[in-house]
Amino acid sequence: MHKNLFKAIILTFSILMFTTWISSAQELSSPNGRLKTYFSVDKSGQPIYRLTYDNKYVVKDSKLGFILLNDRIGNLTDGFNIINTETSSFDETWSPVWGEEDTYRNKYNELLVNLKQLGTGREMAIRFRLFDDGLGFRYEFPSQKNLTYFTIKEEVTEFAMTGNHTAFWLPGDYDTEEYDVTESRISEIRSLYNKERTYNASQHGMDKIGVQTPLQLKTDDGLYINIHEAALIDFPAINLEIDDNNFIFRTHLTPDATGAKGHVQTAFNTPWRTIIVSDDARDILSSKLVYNLNEPCAIKDVSWIKPMKYMGVWWEMITGKTHWSYTDDFFSVQIGKSDYKNAKPHGRHGANTKNVMRYIDFASKNGIKGMLVEGWNIGWEDWFGHQKDYVFDFVTPYPDFDLPRIRDYAKSKGVKMIMHHETSGSIRNYERHLDKAFSFMKTNGYDAVKTGYVGNIIPYGEYHYGQWLVNHYMYVVKKAAEYKIMVNAHEAVHMTGLSRTYPNLLSQESAKGQEFQTSGNKLNHLTLLPFTRLIGGPMDYTPGIVMFDLKKLNPNNHNMVQTTICNQLGSYLTMYTPLQMAADLPEHYEAEPRAFEFIKDVPVMWSESKYLEAEPGRYISVARREKGKRNWYIGNVSGVNRVSAIKLDFLEPGVKYEAKIWQDGKDAKVGSNPYDYTVSVRKVSSKTILKLNAVEGGGWAVSIKPIL
Ligand code: NOJ
Ligand code: CA
Repeated sequence: MHKNLFKAIILTFSILMFTTWISSAQELSSPNGRLKTYFSVDKSGQPIYRLTYDNKYVVKDSKLGFILLNDRIGNLTDGFNIINTETSSFDETWSPVWGEEDTYRNKYNELLVNLKQLGTGREMAIRFRLFDDGLGFRYEFPSQKNLTYFTIKEEVTEFAMTGNHTAFWLPGDYDTEEYDVTESRISEIRSLYNKERTYNASQHGMDKIGVQTPLQLKTDDGLYINIHEAALIDFPAINLEIDDNNFIFRTHLTPDATGAKGHVQTAFNTPWRTIIVSDDARDILSSKLVYNLNEPCAIKDVSWIKPMKYMGVWWEMITGKTHWSYTDDFFSVQIGKSDYKNAKPHGRHGANTKNVMRYIDFASKNGIKGMLVEGWNIGWEDWFGHQKDYVFDFVTPYPDFDLPRIRDYAKSKGVKMIMHHETSGSIRNYERHLDKAFSFMKTNGYDAVKTGYVGNIIPYGEYHYGQWLVNHYMYVVKKAAEYKIMVNAHEAVHMTGLSRTYPNLLSQESAKGQEFQTSGNKLNHLTLLPFTRLIGGPMDYTPGIVMFDLKKLNPNNHNMVQTTICNQLGSYLTMYTPLQMAADLPEHYEAEPRAFEFIKDVPVMWSESKYLEAEPGRYISVARREKGKRNWYIGNVSGVNRVSAIKLDFLEPGVKYEAKIWQDGKDAKVGSNPYDYTVSVRKVSSKTILKLNAVEGGGWAVSIKPIL
């Protein structure tokens, strides 16, 4: 007998053993039958689930439930009986306001298990949705007399792996995803943990060894497993503790300032726990499972939500060429000896009217719609590191930022200003000012805001991923929707597909972005972010840097941006977002016109997307068709030296196209030779195979347009 067939029979047999062992086991199949979920309660009445793919385990028997804080009548972990179950099927196609495709398919089989705890009479349900690309499940608490308010000590949900898989992980944290992604075996996470947890770790790190989600795993059999959460609403964000002896990941919710992990009032549904599964890494990237588990769009009129490219008076500050602040003499301002009007400017304030107008001219000339300006408002002299309650008022410009003039100039040039609200982590202060700040924006024609949450949170002791903060981010997005304002949040909690419901949440940072290129990201960083970050929604990575030698901007900065020109270009395709930056300075684009031609041309709205090649940490290539048009754009980022052979069989047969190709030169090298690239033009058709070169940390980009 064939060895694999034999193995499959043994596995099927053992699954059957399981289902007979626990008399009440429920089985659910995905629409195509390849994934199966089994649910049961064990002898002690503990809910348990498992997941298989082609009859092989993805998740072994894993516990479900909650340990409660100060609960006099016990936890929600055992003593459960299945009262009844309901199964159903669902199939819809919906159109996102913006996205990688015109339409998304939402097709699953569902199992709802209603449980009752015998001793207490408390009810808890678990709803499983099994798609062809993975599983989502959540806990549901109906409103009930015996369980109205409760506080969670820990969620028990486990993800028991079958072995020592390769993991692509970020160290567990309550405050930040701004880490490199580490690739290691599960068993190595513990020893690597402290080394990777360099970022202000004592303040932010979780109190157990663990990892963040989205967590990407790969088994030795070549199965890709991605664990995350969907629809994170009114609940703390998930981290995962590791039990490395047994290869089990255990839910570790983010605590609040008192150590509690979620205050619940029934009726209540938790966020979904998600496991995307495939033997092909491309399916992980094209999965819409996390979006599908979110509620449909809650905003009636979406006509004001407009994807766009934008520039910013920003990179020049990140690199230290100019500053957010206006004066060095803040002491006098602070003690009332002077005000900003009379304070002596230090002369390197980036957000000055003349500089801003220069950017507006360039954006307008090149059809770039949005313009972000940071450091326009007072407070930047003393905003960082002291956990000050009240720093910014979000409405008072610095004396050299002539807001009305800039507003009118931008309007006359067809450019939309984007407001910046750095909260300095003082949520309390931001919420107090929010209505006034949003009205001020609208009065002055700003339709989009970049928010930021740098530093420790006020109220003191709260964390960026706690329930309180999760509610804050949602409050801002909903409030913004009332004002018809689009949001791009930095340092906010990981995304969980909420942009389906609130598409004015255009993008977020929530990972290590280009801003860290001033010191250098790992060379394969961009080949990982789509697996470890974009699963929940778009990222404001801020691509488009074309001048890498940072001492030319700031003599004290001796770093080179760790990238190549074509790595930057390719990322416009691989890092999907409806709000896409052209992050470099106008003069750098003027000096690099061949690269800028692609940045200027590449769209942000798409009708179709096809992931052509993908391997986490190695490479990603994707083809996208411009919204409503016949033009295609393909892009690649690479963590290894590699030539791709790309079949253009997605093009319309019989049609002739012109392809323009930007690729790493043969001798290109991050750091020492990053500007080596070629641009070429050739005719192609659906039969063409393109050979495209990328170096380690590099990439390529192609535009393909029908010859009319
Ligand atoms: C960190 C953000 O990621 C960055 O984009 C911003 O410029 C600074 N904070 C200041 O708000
Ligand atoms: Ca940041």
